[in-house]
Amino acid sequence: MLELKDIRFTIQKRNDEVALLDQIDLRVPTGHFMAIVGPSGCGKSTLLKLIAGINQETSGSIFWNGRNLSEEGDLEASEIGYVPQFSIAYDALTVEENVEASVRLRAKTSSREAFHQLVDNVLASTGLSAIRDRPVRVLSGGQRRRLSLALELVTEPVLLLCDEVTSGLDPKSEHEIVELMYQLSRNEHRLVVNVTHSLANLDLYDSVLVLDAGRIVYHGPPRALEHYFSVEKAEDVYPRLAKRDAGEWAGSWAKHRDAYYASQPVRHIDAPDVSVSATTPGAFAQFFALFFRRWRIFFRDRGQLFLQFSILAVFPFLVVIFDLDGVDQLQRLSESVPATKAEFEAETEAMTFNLNLGGIVSGLVMFQVILLTLMGSNNSAREIAGERQIFEKEKLGGVRPSVYVGSKVAFLSVLVLMQSFWMTVFVQAICEIPSQSMMPHFLLLLLVNAGMTAICLGISSLARTADQASLLSIYLVGFQLPLSGAVLALPAWAGWLTRPFISAYWSWAGIMDGMERDYFRYIKEVTDTWLGPMWLGFVVLGLHVIVGLLVAYIGVKRPKWEN
Ligand SMILES: Nc1ncnc2c1ncn2[C@@H]1O[C@H](COP(=O)(O)OP(=O)(O)OP(=O)(O)O)[C@@H](O)[C@H]1O
Ligand SMILES: [Mg+2]
Repeated sequence: MLELKDIRFTIQKRNDEVALLDQIDLRVPTGHFMAIVGPSGCGKSTLLKLIAGINQETSGSIFWNGRNLSEEGDLEASEIGYVPQFSIAYDALTVEENVEASVRLRAKTSSREAFHQLVDNVLASTGLSAIRDRPVRVLSGGQRRRLSLALELVTEPVLLLCDEVTSGLDPKSEHEIVELMYQLSRNEHRLVVNVTHSLANLDLYDSVLVLDAGRIVYHGPPRALEHYFSVEKAEDVYPRLAKRDAGEWAGSWAKHRDAYYASQPVRHIDAPDVSVSATTPGAFAQFFALFFRRWRIFFRDRGQLFLQFSILAVFPFLVVIFDLDGVDQLQRLSESVPATKAEFEAETEAMTFNLNLGGIVSGLVMFQVILLTLMGSNNSAREIAGERQIFEKEKLGGVRPSVYVGSKVAFLSVLVLMQSFWMTVFVQAICEIPSQSMMPHFLLLLLVNAGMTAICLGISSLARTADQASLLSIYLVGFQLPLSGAVLALPAWAGWLTRPFISAYWSWAGIMDGMERDYFRYIKEVTDTWLGPMWLGFVVLGLHVIVGLLVAYIGVKRPKWEN
């Protein structure tokens, strides 16, 4: 049994405390199907989130089978199914793949057979067996809602909370979905609650709860609804509600409330819950489920795949083309000691040539670095923000934020490794940049790519939308070149102020420090800016990676529900 006692939920608006829900008292047995109805904005979703544990009540208590959830902790993730209004499946995957991922992330199964059995059962009970191989992209509205329910059923939750799962459907599909929820509620351990503002199909519910401006104004059998509000048909309830203040309606209901609850079957299960729910899989199982799902989506998305491979192939090529003129000069550095006037003139000429060469080496490396930061931002800017609502849902279902970030790190590491490796090897093969040793050169390119990828992952975890994250990340890359000081020197104070944040600078300066000494001399001549030592480059870029991942973890942990 679910019981809410004198619940109040307030938010802070400027300096005022505004109650979105007030004096909420209700009791619903298990094996029951309840509708929460009411005009738009009356607090239905807010109430549902409170029951789901997404919102925290300001005062009052919530009990489940006699257990005080406010004091003794929320229900286990596997005990609750929460179906939000938005789609919580990946469009690129099929119905079955989505359900399989949900099982891997949320329900522990004992064997392969048990796993497939569970997937089959869930698909069958939601009427999806026939379309299990279809990609979600092509599903109808009603089929998507079925899938949303299926994803929640993998743990056999005792509390199934649905928000507007029938809105926007045609009457036939709406009826089918309500019928499906009704079927799911015919289980003595389970309570199904559906929020809706549609007043059709009310007959299928065991009880209807009417909310108005955050107050309960009725809770009882659907048959008695018309009589209670003195209207002819259920659809007239809303206009009728508007005629009186919500407080007055709530006052009237308070007089009838006790009589209604007294007539209700009370099944007290004071003993520990008779839980039939599954347990959440371990961190490793979740990690692999997330990691492999990410690759699958990556390979399904043709557009993204094409973009990634084009960037991978074309960017190093760009570096080479832009510096093609200087490349053949790179191999010969002129060194001679002048003795005669003619030799002195030759020396001056050689000097100019060598300075020019220093500029070419510096420019070549800066170009590598900038393109790798661009790849970094492209790698991760949308990574979390683009699927945030799905992740919020999965987090509520028991997916650990650290494991989620870990799976992103593993996925992105592969991209970063390929990009920086190819950039280093391809450019080196053609341009023969005079580095003393290629390893530090490669590692500094890898780190600048990894640093930008990590920072943009952090941005992605904090952003409100994927577009916002993309835009911010592009700005960040755009500022790298002008603020690096490699092209034009900044005023000294501005350089010291911005330098710690400019990853392109540290990678470039570090690589310059690793050039053959003769070249380094000329690079120093043509560069107006301070050149930090290589070890400091490693330290700062390493810090960028750590800070980026830390921010990503904090951002991912923080709840971010859209509605
Ligand atoms: N976190 C919040 N901060 C400020 N206002 C909020 C917050 N959450 C909800 N509200 C406001 O509280 C009211 C109730 O919102 P809620 O989403 O619960 O309504 P609803 O009954 O589900 O409406 P609908 O039928 O349109 O979905 C709305 O006016 C909404 O704007
Ligand atoms: Mg709502």
